[in-house]
This record gives sequence, C-alpha cells and structure tokens, in this order.
Amino acid sequence: MLPWLKPAVFLACLIPLGQLGYNAYTGNLTANPIEFITRFTGSWALILLLSSLAVTPLRKICGWNALIKYRRMLGLFAFFYAALHFLTYMVLDHFFDFQAIVKDILKRPYVTAGFTSLVLMIPLAITSTASMIRRLGKRWQQLHRLVYFAAAAAVLHFYWLVKADIRRPVQYGLVLAVLLGSRLVFSWAPAIARRFSSQRSAGRATANARASKLSRNSES
Ligand code: HEM
Repeated sequence: MLPWLKPAVFLACLIPLGQLGYNAYTGNLTANPIEFITRFTGSWALILLLSSLAVTPLRKICGWNALIKYRRMLGLFAFFYAALHFLTYMVLDHFFDFQAIVKDILKRPYVTAGFTSLVLMIPLAITSTASMIRRLGKRWQQLHRLVYFAAAAAVLHFYWLVKADIRRPVQYGLVLAVLLGSRLVFSWAPAIARRFSSQRSAGRATANARASKLSRNSES
C-alpha cells in the first residue's frame, strides 16, 4: 500500500486535537468550555474506537490486508482521546475531587458505563505492542475481543447521558451493531462453508453409489 498513507492517517488522527487547540487559542470554546471539551473528546474517542473496529470487516470485504496496520493506530488514538476526555472530567470539571468522582461513578449509570469503557480500553492499549502480541499468542486475540464490550459500554454511556434527542447515540449503536454482526458472519462463514461442502461431497458420494448400482443392474 502507499508508503505515505500511514503518516497521513497518523496526522489525520491529530486533526481533532489541533482543532481543539485552535478553538482554545481563538477563544471559540463556546460559553461552556468544559462541556465543549468533554463532548468533543468523548465524540472523537468513540468515532476512532468504531473506526478501529471497522478495519477487520473492511479488510475481509475488500481484501485490503494492509489495512491491519491502521487498526492499532486507530485504537491507540481512541484511547488517547478517551484519556483526554476523562482528564477533562477529572481536572477541569472535578478539580481532582476523587471522592466526588468515585461517588459519581457509583451513583450515575452513564458515568459507570463511561468508566467501564475506559477501564476496558487500558489492557488493550498496554498489550498493543508487537512484543505483547507475540508473548500472548492466542490469548491476545481473546483479550482483544474486549474492544466490543468497551465500544458497547461507550455507546451506552452516550445513550444514558442524553436527555431528549437520542438520535446520535442510536446512530453510533447501529454502526456498532453492524460491525458486531459482520464479525459474527465472518466467524461463522468458514464453518457454514465447511458444512455445505461436506454435505455436497456426501451428496455426491450417494449419487455416485446410486449410479454405479444402476449400471451394475443394467449390465446383469
Ligand atoms: C471515566 C470515564 C468517563 C467519564 C467520567 C465520562 C464523562 C462524560 C461526561 C461528563 C460527558 C458530558 C455530559 C454532558 O453532556 O454534559 C461525556 C460525554 C460523552 N462521552 Fe464520556 N466519559 C467517560 C468515558 C468515555 C469513553 C471511554 C468514551 C468513548 C470511548 C466516552 C464517550 C463520550 C461521548 C461520545 C460523549 C457525548 C459527546 C457529545 O455529546 O457529543 N466517554 N462523558
């Protein structure tokens, strides 16, 4: 694939951060800057998380195996924006008041879901290096299935926090459902194909046996 594409994707993932910095510099963070930053970083964390999940289905459908290189980058950027999102909440919104933060996590379902999503993303980020992939072997794939739970918790977090207009969280939920559905189809497809081919060969064997019996009868 094109050699400049990887740095281009890297830079593209930094555009939201640049936009946030530019808005802060020009004083365009709206009347409620903390809410703006929280929503902005939260949205990008979820968009990048879903983008990282879209890599495998796209790879299988289009046959672009080189896409795999971008999955890790997108996942790590999702974690980066999720960490910024949490830092905004912890530092700017709660001024390191850990007691209030813990109370919030325990009492407000949408914060519990957001926290769950963030916590699930931590082991994924830590084990995303090539040496960890080698060291964990088959267990790496099992561990990285957690990404679906992290995405589901993030969508639930968004759904629970909106008060009236549920369109955006529902749209994200639909995207996640399609990605999860495609994953199930791709994991079942080889088994279904195997079953069909064994049924077909069994059918062929019966037909051959019947044909040779018929020809034996006609000869006698
Ligand atoms: C401890 C972890 C988290 C906390 C405390 C937290 C907290 C918040 C808060 C306070 C808001 C804004 C609510 C408002 O509208 O006033 C928010 C919005 C949001 N968060 Fe989180 N969050 C957490 C984790 C996450 C994670 C891991 C993701 C995604 C992967 C995420 C995605 C979002 C999204 C998409 C929004 C809505 C943005 C919008 O309105 O456009 N959050 N979160």
